[in-house]
Amino acid sequence: MDRIKIVGGGPLRGTIPISGAKNAALPLMIASLLTGDRLTLKNVPNLADVNLLGRILRNHGVDLAVDGKRTGPNLQGETFHLTARDIVDTTAPYEMVARMRASFWILGPLITRMRQARVSLPGGCAIGTRPVDLHLMGLKALGAEIDIDAGYVVARAPRGLHGAHIIFPKVSVGATHNVLLAAALAKGETLLENAAREPEVGDVAHCLVKMGVLIEGIGTSTLRIQGRDQLDGAIHTVLPDRIETGTFAMAVAATGGDVVLEGTRRDLLATALDVLEQSGTKVSDTETGLRIAPNGGGIVPVSVETQPFPGFPTDLQAQLMALVAKADGTSVIRETIFENRFMHVQELARLGADIHLHGDTATIKGVKHLRGAPVMATDLRASVSLVIAGLSAEGETIINRVYHLDRGFERIEQKLSQCGAQIERLVTA
Ligand code: UD1
Repeated sequence: MDRIKIVGGGPLRGTIPISGAKNAALPLMIASLLTGDRLTLKNVPNLADVNLLGRILRNHGVDLAVDGKRTGPNLQGETFHLTARDIVDTTAPYEMVARMRASFWILGPLITRMRQARVSLPGGCAIGTRPVDLHLMGLKALGAEIDIDAGYVVARAPRGLHGAHIIFPKVSVGATHNVLLAAALAKGETLLENAAREPEVGDVAHCLVKMGVLIEGIGTSTLRIQGRDQLDGAIHTVLPDRIETGTFAMAVAATGGDVVLEGTRRDLLATALDVLEQSGTKVSDTETGLRIAPNGGGIVPVSVETQPFPGFPTDLQAQLMALVAKADGTSVIRETIFENRFMHVQELARLGADIHLHGDTATIKGVKHLRGAPVMATDLRASVSLVIAGLSAEGETIINRVYHLDRGFERIEQKLSQCGAQIERLVTA
């Protein structure tokens, strides 16, 4: 298994290109199941999760062609051409869905287009129980008959799906995607209330509009969707990855560096950038993206609670913790989205961080220095928090199990070493 070696201590300086958002690319690829015409997606990041979903979609009969390989330092992402002319299989097996939770979102498109689907339940996950009750509630409201059989969701809609008024009792990104995609081909109007407002949901909705669906309220928590009998193909560019943006911004702040993050936008992560500014970092808009630089006062402690968009994202919680591990004072971070998303805490402690956990709240007493150590990546965002801590620590950090990183961060060693980081992948044959 590959490992990553970091020799920390130096500031990051230079430019980092921000890739297309993984969390938008995945549901956009799934949207291809809704039409027999070609859906072209530009700026798709080259990630393990994207490649796995490509394999899953091919199993269902989607024709996927890729062009525009990323080779140079600043090239655009890949372009995917997806055509689901004939869906040859409506079963998504456990071996596939268990490896990536977002693949469960093919359920909505399969039932709405094929009137039947058999999709494995995604199973447990390291960061919490992550149930799918809201997905099933929404799809049932659209008229799907759903049974659970031997770990599979078996869904039928012999006469197709119809519009409905659905009020989500809790904000769920995945359930919003699943139901939105299903409603696109349902008969009549669907009204979703308390829908997720994450920019990636908006990106999928914009793509559906290009495919011929009428959607009002994009970017708000109330979506009004007029389903269509058939959808057209479209060409769509994946929006920039706000989590990658926030991650690199925190890495720059943790090392006291000065970097321009290219191709990204402040509005995608305004709350996280506000927190970063409170913690002592200057964020300024440039012609090409955002400049991250220290404001000269060191790292200031912060008090933050994770929330659905537009709040502070849970996907940046671990990275913020790595940053404030060296703050001049005590920070408090409360995780309200996932009950078990603190696995990075004990690994950060191995580098010398002083973190006390009580229920859903972490209290981080800033220390003057972190020192490199061998650590273990446990999930996607936790592993990148260890990269940040390793970059700001003195000495050598070895991160084991980096396959977690490859799921969600494109060419991370290359992007960081371009800015002066001493980081390399130790490849195990
Ligand atoms: C998506 C993101 C993930 C992010 C998360 C929250 C992708 C590929 N993944 O995950 O990176 O951390 O949003 O922003 O976009 N819940 C239920 N019942 C359900 C569904 C969810 O109770 O049926 C709960 C979950 O356990 C969790 C909360 O709702 O506590 C939010 O989960 P959700 O927004 O659905 O996360 P994902 O879509 O899985």
